Amino acid sequence: MPKLGVNIDHIASVRELRKGIEPDPVLAAIICEAEGVDSIVVHLREDRRHIKEKDLYLLKKIVKTKLNLEMSIAPDIVEIACKVRPDQATLVPEKRKELTTEGGLDVLANFKKLKKVIEKLKNAGIIISLFIDPDKKQIDAAQKLGVKMIELHTGRYAEAKNEKEQDKYFKELKEAVYYAKKKGLTVNAGHGLNYYNVSRIARIEGIEELNIGYSIICRAVLVGLAQAVREMKRLVHG
Ligand code: PXP
Repeated sequence: MPKLGVNIDHIASVRELRKGIEPDPVLAAIICEAEGVDSIVVHLREDRRHIKEKDLYLLKKIVKTKLNLEMSIAPDIVEIACKVRPDQATLVPEKRKELTTEGGLDVLANFKKLKKVIEKLKNAGIIISLFIDPDKKQIDAAQKLGVKMIELHTGRYAEAKNEKEQDKYFKELKEAVYYAKKKGLTVNAGHGLNYYNVSRIARIEGIEELNIGYSIICRAVLVGLAQAVREMKRLVHG
């Protein structure tokens, strides 16, 4: 069964509604770790709409499991990452106007730029993962870049309009996991997973870690973060 990484961006989104000091992502990370999650995930966006640099520095100090920083390859973000040195950096595409990361990285189209950034991050001792669509061409390109880890975008599966469509995208994910594993890559997955659609994905053999944010934080608003994490852990770990 996969590990569970919890993305706590939206704890900071709630804080930013009033630009105040609570809820505090640091406290959220402590609660998640006390509940036995395997990693804490945050995305330092270029527009700083939720997580800020200060959060990142504090999280680096207190996270005991693994701090996974989702990031674009913008030079100033890369510079911050090299200073903070999270355990892992997950490179994602980023558009200013999107509500959330809309698709995977186009590794083929950004091959040279990615190569440079990966080199820098590797030199800073950071493990690299690439967030890509479940697509063989992207998996091949990721491998060519020399990364050892990818995260497959589960958005198409999560947003399927009906059962037939969901089955189609489930199959696509399963095949991509199998393909990437055969190439020796560590395979994570995430995006749009929730309490209703996660079990099927968690049962795909070969997925190392699922990264889940929005649905856990939404549930936490109603039942508390510790319980929301416990319930998700139960579904992920079976
Ligand atoms: N994995 C990656 C790479 C992401 O960019 C996100 C969204 O920040 C997630 C997982 C979590 O997605 P969600 O918030 O929809 O669970």
